[in-house]
Amino acid sequence: MSNLPGDRAKSRYVEDTFNSIAKRYDLMNTLMTFGLDKSWRRLAVKLSRLKEGGKGLDVCCGTGMLTLEQARVAGPAGKITGLDFSRNMIEMAQQNIKDLSFRDNIQFVQGDAMDLPFENNCFDCVTVGWGLRNVPDVLRVVQEMARVVKPGGKVISLDMAQPVVPVFKEFYWLCFDRIIPTVGKLLSGNKKAYKYFYNSARGFMCQQELADLFAQAGLDETRYLNLCGGVVAIVEGKKPL
Ligand SMILES: C[S@@+](CC[C@H](N)C(=O)[O-])C[C@H]1O[C@@H](n2cnc3c(N)ncnc32)[C@H](O)[C@@H]1O
Repeated sequence: MSNLPGDRAKSRYVEDTFNSIAKRYDLMNTLMTFGLDKSWRRLAVKLSRLKEGGKGLDVCCGTGMLTLEQARVAGPAGKITGLDFSRNMIEMAQQNIKDLSFRDNIQFVQGDAMDLPFENNCFDCVTVGWGLRNVPDVLRVVQEMARVVKPGGKVISLDMAQPVVPVFKEFYWLCFDRIIPTVGKLLSGNKKAYKYFYNSARGFMCQQELADLFAQAGLDETRYLNLCGGVVAIVEGKKPL
């Protein structure tokens, strides 16, 4: 596992940030995406080809919304695991599933995406939602996801990307920079966290670079799908048989 001082500092900062905004995270997410996040998550799970009775992993699961989407598809015979290092985000995830009939099929594990505590080839699919931007070593995490997925299984990332539509993209970055941190401050009292979201999204690699990195991690059939003009993208790859 990468353990450089800079990596540890970034992980610590990210963990503290998410611990501090956990309670308001879902509300802010819905506001920031105009409620579209649900349909994006549904699409990501559809592309994962998870089936009823399947076993899925959701890395950087946060409050468990993508984990839940997997659980809905896998149904009562499925087994879905969400992993995150933020204690407070996992606490919210536990809250979010407490009234669900299929809650027993979901488990949340506190752990580091850089060093997944699972055996090789044990999940039918592995997803990560808005997570890769936050880790110190993206390749390392994608390699870990590729390691634990079964041969033939999909690795999927759903994340902010680089918008591609001229004019709109300048407007989008301006709104993201000015409005989101202010609303974030009103709702969570933490403007800095939402400024960090802007910086991490703006500085993150573009969707093609992420697809190339999936290939570098040993995945086949890598590709990306832009949503909302590339504001968000789903990047996917398949573990060779
Ligand atoms: C933007 S949230 C995304 C939450 C969720 N996936 C969703 O769809 O809304 C990013 C999450 O990644 C987690 N995270 C960041 N780096 C991590 C790491 N190295 N290991 C585990 N979790 C990490 C944070 O704690 C946070 O909960």
